[in-house]
Amino acid sequence: MQRLDKFSSLSKLKKQSNKGVPVMLKIAFAADTLPGQHALVLTVAAKRKLGEQGLKLDKKLGGALSRAVEASHFTGAKEQTLTILAPAKTRLTRLVLVGIGDAAVADASLFARVGGAAAAALNGKDAQAVFLVDCFKESKLAVSEAAAHAALGARLRSYRFDKYQTKQKPDQKPALKTLTLASKDFAAAKALYAPLDKIAEGVALARDLVSEPGNVLYPETLAQHALALSELGVKVTILDEKQMKKLGMNALLGVAQGSVNAPRLVALHWQGDAQAKDKAPVCFVGKGVTFDSGGISLKPGAGMEAMKYDMAGAAAVIGAIKALAGRKAKANVVGIVGLVENMPSGNAQRPGDVVTTASGQTIEVVNTDAEGRLVLADALWYAQETFKPRCIVDLATLTGAIVIALGHEYAGLFSNDDALSDQLTKAGKGVEETLWRFPLGDAFDKLINSPIADMKNVGERGAGSITAAQFLQRFIKKGTPWAHLDIAGTAWQEKDKPLSVKGATAFGVRLLDRLVADNFEAQ
Ligand code: BES
Ligand code: ZN
Ligand code: ZN
Repeated sequence: MQRLDKFSSLSKLKKQSNKGVPVMLKIAFAADTLPGQHALVLTVAAKRKLGEQGLKLDKKLGGALSRAVEASHFTGAKEQTLTILAPAKTRLTRLVLVGIGDAAVADASLFARVGGAAAAALNGKDAQAVFLVDCFKESKLAVSEAAAHAALGARLRSYRFDKYQTKQKPDQKPALKTLTLASKDFAAAKALYAPLDKIAEGVALARDLVSEPGNVLYPETLAQHALALSELGVKVTILDEKQMKKLGMNALLGVAQGSVNAPRLVALHWQGDAQAKDKAPVCFVGKGVTFDSGGISLKPGAGMEAMKYDMAGAAAVIGAIKALAGRKAKANVVGIVGLVENMPSGNAQRPGDVVTTASGQTIEVVNTDAEGRLVLADALWYAQETFKPRCIVDLATLTGAIVIALGHEYAGLFSNDDALSDQLTKAGKGVEETLWRFPLGDAFDKLINSPIADMKNVGERGAGSITAAQFLQRFIKKGTPWAHLDIAGTAWQEKDKPLSVKGATAFGVRLLDRLVADNFEAQ
């Protein structure tokens, strides 16, 4: 069953993917500010309160800092910024004040947001900036931790996907190349940041994958990106069409059959806990529809281009595995992604077709646009049969209905297990990828009974996200804790957010990493 694709030359992939890839913001750590010309960011607490370094700087500037603050509406409220250009008596190009609010309650999440706000404010000409994380005697968070999380926030917010922009003028491109975090205990800050940097790399990978258009990223090429994680010690298995046919994955294959791009199913196995190699792994499963046209139940044209992001669940799973492997997490985790393109054609699946899944259960495909659940039905089954996981979390841009219910703020959470559900909710809060749980139950389950097969792939108009989850639950074996995250509203944002710019968010990468860190990782 194991097979690495024939044309999988990693070096070729590397060459291709480095072309035009934006240079990541470089993060450095130092004890103090640097000499010379650069921008300086300084943290200020609520009520215009300057910390140790702020007071020193204000003195050096002859009180110009406090005068500038008084002349503005800047109060030091959370994430507020004030830019002072070319302050006299220094060689600084600009001084950016960034508010942390009440220093006594400022936590790691807040400092990540503060880092994000600073990165957004550093939109000038400077290639170099120093971020001075000041000390306030009321703070409960160690300054090193504050600096590490500010660095993470700055890096996440600085992500850009501009490889296809060939005509950008220099003033349209981000100038900032290096951000140096200056704080007390900077060596500790640097050590705390090291794993966060790996998480940022997982986020960047997921955002890259989600941002790529469907003509570049289709099942085979997405599988190649997953395969590249073998460099980190991840065991990657790729199943092709023939192998999936043998396993009876006709639901997944039915979705793929209308496309000239062949499907793939990829398993990424990270065995970071050597002592517990035989212990059942945690399993993440992602929907990877590289383009969802709707198939014969064709979507309307307006906005259809957004459906390149219908593989965001798969991207989150791949990004999370990259983060876990990158930071060498002491846990055994499997990521599985079902990769297909959903297209209409003479060979496409019809409404009314009946398919037999790998589990043996049959499905009447009433609507070919409800394809994500068909892909997941076989991927979830494969996950359980192959890896006997201790729990499964699937992520999918599954329904438009979840966007109606929750907008773009929360992802929907559906689960057969209260403990797993609580662990996920808590992890989500910690990384600000928040979840809201929905009910499941027999009354909803009945709505997907079919007159011709074991089930149909759509319910009635109401409770669309719940009936989709009920459908998935029919492929979960009794006793396996399972949760489904519907990320249709959170995987892509039309506006800048504290830790991301408009576009792909990589929602789920940090959440899954935190879930593992808090609950499944050996110390
Ligand atoms: N990929 C879509 C869901 C989606 C919608 C993702 C908006 C991101 C943004 C999914 O495959 C789909 O088309 N679902 C249908 C289901 C319906 C036919 C029961 C939907 O939500 O309309
Ligand atoms: Zn669809
Ligand atoms: Zn879809």
